[in-house]
Amino acid sequence: MQNLEQLELQFQAKIDAEIKIEPKDWMPEAYRKTLIRQISQHAHSEIVGMLPEGNWITRAPSLRRKAVLLAKVQDEGGHGLYLYSAAETLGIDRDTLIHDLHSGKAKYSSIFNYPSLTWADMGAIGWLVDGAAIMNQVMLCRTSYGPYARAMVRICKEESFHQRQGYEIMLTLAQGSPEQKRMAQDALNRWWWPSLMMFGPPDSESTNSEASIKWKIKRMSNDELRQRFVDATVPQAELIGLKVPDKDLKWNEERGHYDFGALDWDEFWAVVKGNGPCNKERLEQRVKAYEDGAWVREAALAHAEKKKERAEKVGAVA
Ligand SMILES: [Fe+2]
Ligand SMILES: [Fe+2]
Repeated sequence: MQNLEQLELQFQAKIDAEIKIEPKDWMPEAYRKTLIRQISQHAHSEIVGMLPEGNWITRAPSLRRKAVLLAKVQDEGGHGLYLYSAAETLGIDRDTLIHDLHSGKAKYSSIFNYPSLTWADMGAIGWLVDGAAIMNQVMLCRTSYGPYARAMVRICKEESFHQRQGYEIMLTLAQGSPEQKRMAQDALNRWWWPSLMMFGPPDSESTNSEASIKWKIKRMSNDELRQRFVDATVPQAELIGLKVPDKDLKWNEERGHYDFGALDWDEFWAVVKGNGPCNKERLEQRVKAYEDGAWVREAALAHAEKKKERAEKVGAVA
């Protein structure tokens, strides 16, 4: 019988050798807990993230835009389902995860607690929110937990389509009438700072970062990812003639990166704690959707039961 210390050493050696951890492998309880929290939070974000965009499907300006937006929102639902399955491999069941979301115990990305006010928001969300998500998720394709890493590979392919469709909406509006251009700029103004907040608190205040990096759950810190996002996105805004709403934004030749203004962390924490503009509405919508769908789950279970019974009968005869 190996002692705990040996098991932990072997576990870390595997991580250091870039061998993936699989569901039946031994793992420290804290690793399991961190992953359950992170993967389920990620799954909840995909599911709640369907709401701000779902809001615009019926009002998309053309059939093409409608078809694209519908496909994008469906993708997000699919991402949520993959991720719930990945979380379940760690020994937690989906009902518990969903209950924790509905009771407010579990968190999801705060970005989805902001309202989507105009059609241009569909552009800004795809471009900035999916763009920020990609920064995080590309890194997660190499995360140390096998089922999570594999889910991320497919998800990332879809996310890059989401980002491009959003950017294309912004490009079209930015080249349109003055009113359309104003709409695009207004959406950028409202979504820019919340998008930067998607990378989480600054490294100096992030409680989960250090262990996550040692276990290679994460490979870059919140601040590194945020910088990467700013560096990639500012030239994209310039290319379509929009202005990033940050008076401190400036290319720093020496660092080889953009310097940017301070984030409003009071706003960040207020939204995390449930006081954002749409927290209440989003949760109410999720709970209602879950309750309205109860009959589908019941019917699926009854059907599975019936099939099982039939198979048993056939088995008994044969
Ligand atoms: Fe997604
Ligand atoms: Fe997406």
